[in-house]
Amino acid sequence: MTGGGAAKVERRIPVAILGATGVVGQRFARRLARHPWFEVGALAASERSVGKRYAEACDWRLPGEPWAGLGEMRLGRTDPADCPQPVVFSALDRAVAEEVEPRFAAAGALVFSNASAFRMEEDVPLLVPEVNPDHLDLLAVQRRRRSWPGGIVTNPNCTAAVAVGALAPLERAFGIEAVFLASMQAASGAGHPGVPSLDLLGNVIPFIRDEEEKVETEAQKLLGRLAGERIEPAPFAVSAACHRVPVLDGHTEAIALRLRGDPTPEAVARVLAEFRGEPQRLALPSAPERPVIVHFAPDRPQPRLDAEAEGGMPVHVGRIRVCPIFGIKLVALGHNVERGAAGASVLNAELAAARGWLSRA
Ligand SMILES: NC(=O)c1ccc[n+]([C@@H]2O[C@H](COP(=O)([O-])OP(=O)(O)OC[C@H]3O[C@@H](n4cnc5c(N)ncnc54)[C@H](OP(=O)(O)O)[C@@H]3O)[C@@H](O)[C@H]2O)c1
Repeated sequence: MTGGGAAKVERRIPVAILGATGVVGQRFARRLARHPWFEVGALAASERSVGKRYAEACDWRLPGEPWAGLGEMRLGRTDPADCPQPVVFSALDRAVAEEVEPRFAAAGALVFSNASAFRMEEDVPLLVPEVNPDHLDLLAVQRRRRSWPGGIVTNPNCTAAVAVGALAPLERAFGIEAVFLASMQAASGAGHPGVPSLDLLGNVIPFIRDEEEKVETEAQKLLGRLAGERIEPAPFAVSAACHRVPVLDGHTEAIALRLRGDPTPEAVARVLAEFRGEPQRLALPSAPERPVIVHFAPDRPQPRLDAEAEGGMPVHVGRIRVCPIFGIKLVALGHNVERGAAGASVLNAELAAARGWLSRA
């Protein structure tokens, strides 16, 4: 499965997409329809959609080929009997995922989940391949404890995904002592139809249920250390203030952080620009060339100009400057449905394939 340098897969691996009609599910379909390692074998959604062609059941909302060329596929039930593929991508809501994903894992599938249901479980990897690739080893603990032949691997909440993309290189280079972040989160982060347009247009909503708690705890797990059979959370405090704004795609985050040794903005910019992770070393198909793109123009990054670059996979950082309270402040931006959801899950599956976990599923 793997060779030296770039990882390869000999034969395409059949996969299923659960929640294939939703905001994240459509991105999965578009990414996986032409993936060099994976092949879409089944699509599933709610009872409303079962039995319908994808083109009938799914209100396709992405540019490019409609339904990613999968319009004639029939939707199945969200059940291992209808989706027997060894790899399953889940874009289900939390409540559905909580009940359904363990059934797939018990039936032998490796589930790559966007839902929050299992992210903070002790034996479930919460994974960003550039940030904590070794956390994938928790799968062995999970399989043993739960007697699952398959397993569940999760990717973080979209706001946490963008934040850790910028924070991880700085934690490695300097060490972080404290983080405060204020998010400006896109409408697509709430799924479709999401927040009513009359509530959101020309407005800022300073509350997203459970979001701040998720960002704070998930960032600590992601930046934590694998210690035996569990993750020791990162020891520094993260404080998040989350806001919904009338932007289509792309979460922007104003981040202030205290770093050990009080590095200059130039030193911070250098570390971020030079950072490369495991996906870049392995040349995984969905890996961006640079996980962090540093912008020097004073008015960048911006969601409309930067979120879609390189398939929405890099995290963009700009406005790196001195903060009189914390030491450093900067702006981070990432595509919430790609780096924060579908692209993140696919990259997780690619890392799992490159590390041989899919042949063991
Ligand atoms: N949007 C983002 O930026 C983002 C980022 C990170 C994580 N996430 C997470 O990803 C998941 C999906 O989010 P989304 O934004 O794509 O939501 P969404 O647009 O509301 O899509 C939900 C999907 O789940 C299906 N579904 C609903 N009830 C079901 C049931 N009882 N059984 C089986 N399938 C059911 C729907 O199918 P029907 O069409 O048949 O109803 C649809 O395909 C959520 O857990 C969310 O928190 C989203």
